[in-house]
Amino acid sequence: DTSLPKAVKIKLDEKDPAVVKLRKPDNEEHGTRVRVFGRVHRERKQKDVIFVTLRDGYGFMQCILTGQLAKSYNAITLTRETSMEIVGEMYALPPGAHAPDNRELHADYFNVPRGWKAPGGEDAITNMVQAKGDPQTLLDRRHLTLRGEVASAVMFVRDAVEFAFHQVYRETRCRKVSPPALVQTQVEGGATLFKFDYYGEQAYLTQSSQLYLETCLPSMGDVYCIEKSFRAEKSLTRRHLSEYTHVEAELDFITFDDLLTHLEQVMCRVLEITMADPIIAKYIKDLNPEFQMPSRPFKRMKYAEAIDWLREHDIPNEEGQPHTFGDDIAEAAERRMTDIINRPIFLTHFPVEIKAFYMQKDKEDPRVTESVDCLMPGVGEIVGGSMRMDDYDELMAAYQREGIDPAPYYWYTDQRKYGSSPHGGYGLGLERFLAWLCKQHTVRDCCLYPRYMGRCTP
Ligand code: 4AD
Repeated sequence: DTSLPKAVKIKLDEKDPAVVKLRKPDNEEHGTRVRVFGRVHRERKQKDVIFVTLRDGYGFMQCILTGQLAKSYNAITLTRETSMEIVGEMYALPPGAHAPDNRELHADYFNVPRGWKAPGGEDAITNMVQAKGDPQTLLDRRHLTLRGEVASAVMFVRDAVEFAFHQVYRETRCRKVSPPALVQTQVEGGATLFKFDYYGEQAYLTQSSQLYLETCLPSMGDVYCIEKSFRAEKSLTRRHLSEYTHVEAELDFITFDDLLTHLEQVMCRVLEITMADPIIAKYIKDLNPEFQMPSRPFKRMKYAEAIDWLREHDIPNEEGQPHTFGDDIAEAAERRMTDIINRPIFLTHFPVEIKAFYMQKDKEDPRVTESVDCLMPGVGEIVGGSMRMDDYDELMAAYQREGIDPAPYYWYTDQRKYGSSPHGGYGLGLERFLAWLCKQHTVRDCCLYPRYMGRCTP
């Protein structure tokens, strides 16, 4: 109808009263006519009226089709996930009614162009993404399950958290760099390397950007990156991915204690920024109703104390024996301990033998390293970090001890030759942090399209 005022195109979360004028149905004065685009999240057909909850990624809006509009073919056959354009005026909700933002759009026009319609019947989206469906089928249909409220809430939180990390690193004066993903050196042991042919030479997908971050310190000061890391994990667990997002930072001229303080500061500040956004805070509260800001300082526990704790609590090692000094604390034991203690833990001073070659030894007790894992209830380890060996000869001995050929590491070793320094850093698994924050059973639900042993699609 060309006699009607021109409609303003808006996103569904538009709140500006100059644009979205709400009026009561009996008000004489007209509100702004608006035009919205989105997909049918839900629809309810009554005799002469159709209620459509439209979704566009910014918000939800209840739209009402009445009169001739409700009798049209496209309205009668409307299915979930159909894309549509709706034009109309916005009204305040009548008392007692419920709809997003307490308002509804009374349509005077709608359009479902050819090809915008989603199937009904057998192929209806509700049949594709059934909550009780087999997890593998749901993962095959991840492109559709991502449209759901829970999956998309986790993705919104992820977006906010990633942004918060960037903000916090700005505040703490860490500079962002972007190290390569295709490398010829290992960081975290050969067992989890993805190998590939690089123009006739052997190369790997990076396990961590740490070694490259270390090379930036002399010119850039403290640095960080948020990049993908890759691990050929040969087991299926709820916290291991083959490709994950790794938040890593490296700090120069620090002590081990400085490293722990910084780590605690970054994690708490990220949470503070994330929770300061009321929409994101609401998603987190819905996903994880018991969530509470962790109290500082985090509990600090040495590896040796953890071994005693596990013995006292009769939590055995992987062989079913009581834990002894030198054991790698396995995932199950670590999680049980963290769940019982039920607060963030900085587990420190792991033995040299079970940690990576580059870790600095503790001056007071050379059996152990200045290393830290941050453990969170429900997930276990979400951060691994350490001070780095800064002495040239000691590093050469460490390569030898681990059976690593030092030749390809010349650029890393050179950092100990051209002005060495006490430095350290850490890596935080973004999906594990999110699994903890959003109380998700598995890290697979905290990334867009999870990659793990046996899955590289869609
Ligand atoms: O403990 P990791 O192996 O430490 C490093 O890679 C160091 N080089 C990082 C550094 O100091 N810059 O891994 C660090 C974190 C783990 O605590 C975990 O959160 C995550 O990376 N992570 C994984 N997340 C998902 N899937 C996997 N397969 C992961 N492996 C490690």
